[in-house]
Amino acid sequence: MLLEVKNLQVSFKTPDGIVRAVNDVSFSLDEGQTLGIVGESGSGKSQSVFALMGLLAKNSIVGGSVLFNGEEILNLDSKAINKLRSEKMSIIFQDSMTSLNPYMKLGDQLIEVLTVHKGMEYKKAFAESVHMLEAVKISEAKKRMKMYPHELSGGMRQRIMIAMALLCKPKLLIADEPTTALDVTVQAQIMTLLKELQKEFNMAVILITHDLGVVAGTCDNVLVMYAGRVMEYAKVEDIFYHPTHPYTLGLMKTIPRLDLEQKELALIPDNPPDLLNLPKGCSFAPRCSFAKAACLKKPILEELGFNKKRACFAPIDLVLKDYK
Ligand SMILES: Nc1ncnc2c1ncn2[C@@H]1O[C@H](COP(=O)(O)OP(=O)(O)OP(=O)(O)O)[C@@H](O)[C@H]1O
Ligand SMILES: [Mg+2]
Repeated sequence: MLLEVKNLQVSFKTPDGIVRAVNDVSFSLDEGQTLGIVGESGSGKSQSVFALMGLLAKNSIVGGSVLFNGEEILNLDSKAINKLRSEKMSIIFQDSMTSLNPYMKLGDQLIEVLTVHKGMEYKKAFAESVHMLEAVKISEAKKRMKMYPHELSGGMRQRIMIAMALLCKPKLLIADEPTTALDVTVQAQIMTLLKELQKEFNMAVILITHDLGVVAGTCDNVLVMYAGRVMEYAKVEDIFYHPTHPYTLGLMKTIPRLDLEQKELALIPDNPPDLLNLPKGCSFAPRCSFAKAACLKKPILEELGFNKKRACFAPIDLVLKDYK
């Protein structure tokens, strides 16, 4: 097991009170596997992975356990977590323009990763950087090394970000909405590229996305998050064909289907709860058409067998029936 996250908690101290962004999140990931994390905006997807990477804001409080290769990494000091980040795990953010330094040539940014973090000599780092640009299918790589970020298209910048993340040959790559800012065709190219590189480097990938279509084509397992909690965890086929949580069902119904005559897409009514003031029982209950009195208690994430987990009191057959 490459990564084992147990009861992860992330809260933030704010002047208005404690924001509970991630509550009791558990999951694991094997080498070479891909886990998708989905859920509406604010559900705690990014903060969950920021916690593993030691990238949380200063006002955060973290709890739980994260084992990476069997070693606890949650409370490492900044030197140790930086080392891990430059040797074993990398992250690609959504917005390449804010992640790349606009005043520095791309080549220098890539080279710096290797000279500063890996102590590589300049000439070797240059060659390795060019090689990595070629791996992410950037044409005329040597010429691009001399360019600044604004001289490239959004799709190319995202490839550069991937190249930068792969320079240290990570065992775990986290992609946080890596293609949201791009148009559909470029999105598809980047996802294909990521899949190819994942195979080549035998990386585990955590893919955070709003796009369920991307999840279907990429992930092995999917974690569905809502208001900082795991609602459902299952193999990707099960999430799409047999969703057992009403929230997953709601997300699935927002995808257009060609096999049905749909006048309009179903939306989940209302908005997610205020994280400063979470409902007592199930956080999804106020928006859930299956909610009953029992939901005033918090459902635990229950093991259903076949690598499937769910936190809900609604009878599974009722939820499944609603999807047909
Ligand atoms: N430093 C902070 N102080 C207070 N609250 C914060 C802080 N950072 C994040 N949060 C809150 O934590 C919650 C979870 O945020 P997170 O970034 O994980 O959402 P997300 O699921 O990634 O959403 P999106 O899809 O929009 O990226 C949000 O409500 C956010 O406002
Ligand atoms: Mg996010």
